[in-house]
Amino acid sequence: MANLEVDLSNIQAGQTVTVKWRGKPVFIRHRTKADIKSAEEVDVSKLRDPQPDSVRVKDPNWLIVLGVCTHLGCVPLNNAGDYNAWFCPCHGSHYDSSGRIRKGPAPYNLEVPDYVFMEDGAKVLI
Ligand code: FES
Repeated sequence: MANLEVDLSNIQAGQTVTVKWRGKPVFIRHRTKADIKSAEEVDVSKLRDPQPDSVRVKDPNWLIVLGVCTHLGCVPLNNAGDYNAWFCPCHGSHYDSSGRIRKGPAPYNLEVPDYVFMEDGAKVLI
């Protein structure tokens, strides 16, 4: 199946774009410095699905995750919820700026797909 190439140059800090990949939404978030700081400062041992931010990103400026709630598969809303990142309106799951589940029924963090940065980070291939 074909991979998807996305130009990152027009995505401003603080903006999240949604692209379609293999029939699923993928969120590409250009994280702000505040997003990065809050994602890195979390006490991982207190998380339901304990993953440090560093294993979820290849470049701290960019978070790339599947836009599929790990509860029952709804599409979370961007820039929403208690962590100002994603909120799933179906049953109230809140995800943080690392796409990690923080509150609500979802059991796992938003999934990180395989991807590579190209052209010195100007594009990503998902
Ligand atoms: Fe997202 Fe249930 S499908 S909270």
